[in-house]
Amino acid sequence: MIFKVGSEVPMIICICANVSDRKLRAVVADGAATMRAVERRCGAGAGCGACRALVRECLRESRETRAQVTQVMMELAVSETPVLAPA
Ligand code: FES
Repeated sequence: MIFKVGSEVPMIICICANVSDRKLRAVVADGAATMRAVERRCGAGAGCGACRALVRECLRESRETRAQVTQVMMELAVSETPVLAPA
């Protein structure tokens, strides 16, 4: 992880668009799943490009978190599925 999650003080990730880590995470959590989508929604990455590695890192972390949540939900669904006795 490049930047700390839950830091008390927002950190500016993109100087060109004045986007903080909190804003970036909010945009990604709200559905921006690609660099282009992040650029459109908040402008991060659309200027000089210096922040693109951080944006990619945030997108990667989000994908990993979603995959883990999906895995847990699938495991819960399987474990809670009632086994029907044959009629
Ligand atoms: S710092 Fe983000 S585009 Fe320049």
